[in-house]
Amino acid sequence: MRVEVVRGPAGRHDTPLLAGFLFEGRDAPALAVPGSVLGRSVARAAGDLRGRSGSSHLFHADPGDAGPLRLLLLGAGKPDDCDPEAVRRLAARAVRKASELGIERVTIDGLGVPSIEPERFGQVVAEGAVLAAWRFDELKTRRGEKDPPASRVTTVEVAAASDLDATRAGARAGAIVAEAENFARTLQSRPGNVATPSHLADRARDLASEVGLEVRVLGPREMRDENMLALLAVAQGSAEEPRLIVLEHHGGTRGDAPLVLVGKGLTFDAGGISLKPAKGMEDMKFDMSGGAAVLGAMRGIARLGLDVNVVGIVPSSENLVNGSAVKPGDVIGSREGKTIEVINTDAEGRLILADALSYAGTFEPEAIVDCATLTGACVVALGHHASAVLGTDEALVEELRAAGDLSGERCWPLPIWPEYRRQLDSHTADLKNVGGRPAGTITAACFLREFVGNAKWAHLDIAGTAYGKGKLPYQRPGGYGAPTRLLIEWVRKRAA
Ligand code: BES
Ligand code: ZN
Ligand code: ZN
Repeated sequence: MRVEVVRGPAGRHDTPLLAGFLFEGRDAPALAVPGSVLGRSVARAAGDLRGRSGSSHLFHADPGDAGPLRLLLLGAGKPDDCDPEAVRRLAARAVRKASELGIERVTIDGLGVPSIEPERFGQVVAEGAVLAAWRFDELKTRRGEKDPPASRVTTVEVAAASDLDATRAGARAGAIVAEAENFARTLQSRPGNVATPSHLADRARDLASEVGLEVRVLGPREMRDENMLALLAVAQGSAEEPRLIVLEHHGGTRGDAPLVLVGKGLTFDAGGISLKPAKGMEDMKFDMSGGAAVLGAMRGIARLGLDVNVVGIVPSSENLVNGSAVKPGDVIGSREGKTIEVINTDAEGRLILADALSYAGTFEPEAIVDCATLTGACVVALGHHASAVLGTDEALVEELRAAGDLSGERCWPLPIWPEYRRQLDSHTADLKNVGGRPAGTITAACFLREFVGNAKWAHLDIAGTAYGKGKLPYQRPGGYGAPTRLLIEWVRKRAA
């Protein structure tokens, strides 16, 4: 999809569909030219145009009229509630409507949108538009009745009355960010029999050559050389070999400490010997969402050409059950050296992350951020509207929280006070892999902290935010690609 910026207001612009935003308590934006067919239709409807969030009105011009063929007014709610995320959703609604109508080009005019900087406006319109057009249909041989129509939208125009260059820069970045998130969504959507660890590694190799990243992939032999015994213990229960993917973006000065992103790439989590219940288990193909987001973020970072060194690490394995699977009570080693008593084989994410985080330390990073669908407890604590963020560095946690707000992929802090660590005490090994029911998200983070050394580190638990029913106008049921946008936003701020 192409995103272009044109001079607004777009009331006289030749376009099959012009979309504008209508705020509560305000008149319709002056998009329809007074006296034109569209202008008269809008004037006649004035009493019905309330701007209620979610409402919409479509007006048609006469065939042959100059200017827009259709005008779509989208209810945008109260002007005070209009933030970048609201604009992202509005842009997505415009694109969805264009898809529904089978239209190839849509022009979105921000006339009347309160107080958003031009660059940010361009970015979020592009994000909403590009995200809304994504779908996953590579495994369908025919279209079902309830399937959305294939989007024919090829061009989105953003109309700006001033600051065209800033809007253009924002739109360009927004399209890259959204396309990176769509890349993550596609990987997430692939089922466990397609998206195996080696599939992820192969896609990472393709990605590296496409956008210019350095890539290295570790298999079982290299993992043994690195003493990655925790990652290997999870993988020993399945026939598919594990992989550890390492991507490097050299955008900064040579030798400058990199930012390291780590993502859980568990391609199917059956729970192992501590088997999960059958209901909903199919969703555990999404247990590689953190890894998908890290690959997506690396794609975006490379394409934006950010002036900073970034390393992306994705430990990838299945968590299945066979005769050699790790068992409750087993004690395993780890790259860092600590021994771990495996109380529950379903707490496998922290095991593969432990070795990946310890490996991340070899890059002598400026900071490490990991993201993982790590605990069901996180969904209990925060539901589906925020990821949890926990870490060793308060400033880093605050940076991520702010990046979450700006990107629309919010996260909210939980404490990791030393008192919680006691729940992981083991009589047999250095620590247990689970800490019981209380504060499950926190004790999982406490476990990870044992493997990061002295690095500044933060962890995002994305169990409730990485996939779902697809309630927002720019989402579909399934993988959301989150927190790709958050990670890129954070790295951009660090690079600036
Ligand atoms: N992948 C799951 C966490 C998860 C649960 C993600 C629900 C998304 C939705 C993780 O590997 C897991 O099974 N965690 C256990 C930990 C427990 C055994 C301490 C959990 O949350 O139940
Ligand atoms: Zn699990
Ligand atoms: Zn898991």
